[in-house]
Amino acid sequence: MPRPAQENQWWRSAVAYQVYPRSFADSNGDGIGDIRGIIERLDHIAGLGVDVVWLSPVYASPQDDNGYDISDYHDIDPQFGTLADLDELIAQLHRRGMKLVMDLVVNHTSDEHEWFVESRSSRDNPRADWYVWRDPRPGFVGGEPGAEPNNWESYFAGPTWEWVPERQQYYLHLFSKKQPDLNWENPEVRRAVYEMMTWWLDRGVDGFRMDVINMIPKVPGLPDGEVLPSGLGDGKPFYIGGPRLEEFLQEMRAEVFDPRDGIYMTVGETPGMTVEQAARITDTDDGSLSMVFQFEHMDIDHEGDKFTGAPAPMSRLREMLVRWQEGIGTRGWNSLYWSNHDQPRAVSRFGDDQDYWYESATALAVIMHLQRGTPFIYQGEEIGMTNVWFDSIDQFNDIEILGYYRTAIGLGRDEQELIAQFNRRGRDNARTPVQWSGDPHAGFTAGQPWLAVNANFATINAAAQVGAAGSVYEFYRELIALRHAEVVLTAGEFRILLNDDAELFAYLRVTDESRVLVIANLSGASRDWPEAELAAADVEAVAGSEVLLGNREARGAAEALLPWEARVIRLS
Ligand code: GLC
Ligand code: CA
Repeated sequence: MPRPAQENQWWRSAVAYQVYPRSFADSNGDGIGDIRGIIERLDHIAGLGVDVVWLSPVYASPQDDNGYDISDYHDIDPQFGTLADLDELIAQLHRRGMKLVMDLVVNHTSDEHEWFVESRSSRDNPRADWYVWRDPRPGFVGGEPGAEPNNWESYFAGPTWEWVPERQQYYLHLFSKKQPDLNWENPEVRRAVYEMMTWWLDRGVDGFRMDVINMIPKVPGLPDGEVLPSGLGDGKPFYIGGPRLEEFLQEMRAEVFDPRDGIYMTVGETPGMTVEQAARITDTDDGSLSMVFQFEHMDIDHEGDKFTGAPAPMSRLREMLVRWQEGIGTRGWNSLYWSNHDQPRAVSRFGDDQDYWYESATALAVIMHLQRGTPFIYQGEEIGMTNVWFDSIDQFNDIEILGYYRTAIGLGRDEQELIAQFNRRGRDNARTPVQWSGDPHAGFTAGQPWLAVNANFATINAAAQVGAAGSVYEFYRELIALRHAEVVLTAGEFRILLNDDAELFAYLRVTDESRVLVIANLSGASRDWPEAELAAADVEAVAGSEVLLGNREARGAAEALLPWEARVIRLS
């Protein structure tokens, strides 16, 4: 069955908002955000004008990786609420004209999922082959160092293998040992996943964000990877974009979405995916997913590793984003994002959260949202939340940080230097509670928050911004309204301009009827209006043109650009 006609692919004109439930709003004072807390704050989300909410996992889970380790796909974790709460959230969102996209975590389950409990119990139980089981390396005794079936290093430090005496075998876990990888080669596993997805669609959800979905097929044989500083190996070439990926995704589409007209939004989380593969996978006519989250611009400052890399220049960032705009072109569809629950805060990472906090938060928003694709806002981004500063390792929570810390201290690295790197790059930056007000704990909870609130909540909070002219929140609202109002910003082609400029990020959006110029000065110094450079790129003089949106006091279209000034101009 063909995909829905392009005009029915509703996500193309949508703006998405990600909720990380643990940190969004706590309704019962236990310090942990929950579904009722989300329901109570829906006005904040709806007020932005967004169309769809992506909810990070709320399923039953031992919370080893904050819910990305699921022990029951058909139930809600009690700390987040109940299935009835979720049904109410769906209903309340739909009533307000918004949709809900659930997180789909099926590269792995929790080791406490009944599938795994059964699978690990013996070599001949009905689910014996549902996970990736292997014998020890020949010549080694199982459980001894070096006996692992290959040398891969897991994302959260240590080998990707865990020994199970009952089976006298190892199981594969790309993430923590409480996140065993499912065996996607087994058709029964795939069928079980598709049934579960269908169960959620029947419940009324409008799509899925698919966790590390390009890691589901592994290269057969699971060969050793190149040796890393830790002494373990890099398995990525063998588990990223494995040979059967497109086959599995097409099968999923055919089994789950096509029978229901396919009007569902699907976003693959795909670290390391190439733009060529993304263009095929998101192909408007026969692709398997609505869009993917590419990672190039997120990995841009990860030279060495994500904690040690130096900040990247704006020009390189632009070059990557443009390559994705051009590479996907009009064949497929892009997602557009600066941040999520795994990334540091965008205004701190790519902007200037000290001298130009408001200006850089809003300029970054303009430059991202008006590219071709579906923009995603991560909770708190719309009020300009910044990175946090923790002084001691005890204040951090993230399993990735804590695993890295243990390895790095073992290798003799300096504690203070590590803490500085975690503050700059760690995932906890995105996970501190949403700053609702200047009340204790930023109004997030009446109890003790599970992770400390950023100390700047008295100045950066939603209460101070919603309805306040000149706030980051109100700017996001205007930006989203503009994107909804101007068809060219959804449907138009993307053309980069001023490609040699180190600080200006400028592009056109173009349809037969309409052309819009988007330009931002992503630096702390003023810039003359680039009249000559624009003329050389065949853009006519814009003086007198209508300025559709700007993040500085309204001025003429062709005035100089102040530090971090962004301007959106309609060309006649
Ligand atoms: C994805 C999630 C991340 C999680 C990992 C393992 O990258 O976004 O939070 O730790 O997958 O599920
Ligand atoms: Ca709670």
